Amino acid sequence: MNERARTPDVREPARSRPARQINVVLRPAEPAASSAPAAIGRGRTLPPNGPWAEWQEELDRMVGLEDVKALVYEIYALLQVAKMRNAVGLASDSHVFHMIFKGNPGTGKTTVARILARLLQSMGVLSKGHLVEVERADLVGEYIGHTAQKTREWIRKALGGVLFVDEAYSLARGGEKDFGKEAIDTLVKAMEDYRNQFVLILAGYTLEMEMFLLSNPGLPSRFPIRMEFPDYTVDQLIQIAEGMARERDYTFLPQTLHKLRQMLIAEKNEAYPFSNARFVRNVIERAIRNQAVRLLEQYPNGSPGRMELMCLRPEDLR
Ligand SMILES: Nc1ncnc2c1ncn2[C@@H]1O[C@H](COP(=O)(O)OP(=O)(O)OP(=O)(O)O)[C@@H](O)[C@H]1O
Ligand SMILES: [Mg+2]
Repeated sequence: MNERARTPDVREPARSRPARQINVVLRPAEPAASSAPAAIGRGRTLPPNGPWAEWQEELDRMVGLEDVKALVYEIYALLQVAKMRNAVGLASDSHVFHMIFKGNPGTGKTTVARILARLLQSMGVLSKGHLVEVERADLVGEYIGHTAQKTREWIRKALGGVLFVDEAYSLARGGEKDFGKEAIDTLVKAMEDYRNQFVLILAGYTLEMEMFLLSNPGLPSRFPIRMEFPDYTVDQLIQIAEGMARERDYTFLPQTLHKLRQMLIAEKNEAYPFSNARFVRNVIERAIRNQAVRLLEQYPNGSPGRMELMCLRPEDLR
């Protein structure tokens, strides 16, 4: 099994009845090449009570991503209203929650998928609300029929939750003869066979995902929800870094932040795709290790004290 494939956060079903069927159109499928319009729920937040408070807190912890947060609110509003419509006997048909996430590495796609999975569970759309994350190597097999078998196995594990296919465009890269196509066909079939039993999220770089959708004419209409995860600005990355340090009980000196800013500017200018918040997390984790080595050297005979234990200095950033 590929080490990225994992089933974190598996929760027991909150209730065992099948998911409620809802038929409100959230938003029409957009032409693949167009940029998404600003979402209408912008600036609105989930109610500060009940299970929503917890999800809102997690969303609040995420820097930026205003359109993504607004879309989460739209989904919440849709389901609340569907419940009210159901109560007065208005039409209730199934609603499709399969999604496309477009964006560079480290822009928060997996984190948002995990929040959404649990949100949809607490709204009764999904019975379990867990996230199963896979990529091409997990789905594609070595001989005819093997891919369908492997893919079905992952779908089975994802029932009641979200199946998140990272770098989904790579399933189409080999063309007609590639087994990736068999994985796509199996996923599409499962979307029919297990309607309302799982949510499929296909994720990947923006351009590659748009090409992928263009080359599979049957696909776009099956994914009515599209979320765009833009690259973070340097200021947002600094804010993310401060949040990550705070969570771990560390602080930056102003000079450390200045150096971090320079590193971020340089890294963003490199030709390869910038890994955004993941880059920040790696830099911080490395700085924490460097600080530990430095402190042991500087204080061979005792503890440096609380402030020094918390402080990340410029020389720790490397
Ligand atoms: N907006 C944000 N605010 C705070 N932390 C963030 C934000 N976006 C991402 N992170 C953090 O950055 C790390 C990477 O995020 P995540 O794994 O969700 O990105 P991703 O888009 O799935 O990346 P990849 O494509 O590489 O899988 C995580 O530790 C996450 O908590
Ligand atoms: Mg990810």
